[in-house]
Amino acid sequence: MPVRTWFPTHIYCEPLHASGLEKFNAELADECRNLRDYDAAGRKWSAKNYPGGYTSYASMNELHRFSSTFTALEKKLLRHTRVFVKTLELDLRDCEVFMTDCWVNIMPPTAAHSLHLHPLAFISGTYYVATPAGCPGLKFEDPRLDRYMAAPPRLPDAKPANRIHVTYPAEAGNVILFESWLRHEVAANRVDAERISISFNFNWR
Ligand code: NI
Repeated sequence: MPVRTWFPTHIYCEPLHASGLEKFNAELADECRNLRDYDAAGRKWSAKNYPGGYTSYASMNELHRFSSTFTALEKKLLRHTRVFVKTLELDLRDCEVFMTDCWVNIMPPTAAHSLHLHPLAFISGTYYVATPAGCPGLKFEDPRLDRYMAAPPRLPDAKPANRIHVTYPAEAGNVILFESWLRHEVAANRVDAERISISFNFNWR
């Protein structure tokens, strides 16, 4: 082949663990909803910045330090992150990889999360706790989109790796990991049930 592929963008998607996820997710969902009831500052921030939904992003964003359920989740997520980092071939020998932030997102009908990236981290991700059938997935954008200039659109049946967007379905029990600079968004929830996820960042030193 005269053409080879360089500079890939990696996205990781795996179940958190092989079994027992339903019970774990039910506990997490309860804790997420209790947190929303308790976190007045977060509800106030969300009313302004996360219309229709609730996020603890600006109020309680170190949940892995304060709740044993979230500490258990942190341990599991760290294992997945180590696998992902190995695939990326990042030189983290003699370095520590650690979670910096961990927060809850609850999206009732109409709530959406516009295009963003995660500053001050190198690996970010989401864990899905409750994903009613038909709720929106996680849509990623080609990081080179702003450089395409005069590029024509891609063929409608282009190979997945050549497309400029990819949407991972939200599936309770799945972990999605990506490099923190990769922009992503969640479309408006159009189903009549709450979509619950936990987002997090990892850094290294
Ligand atoms: Ni995000």
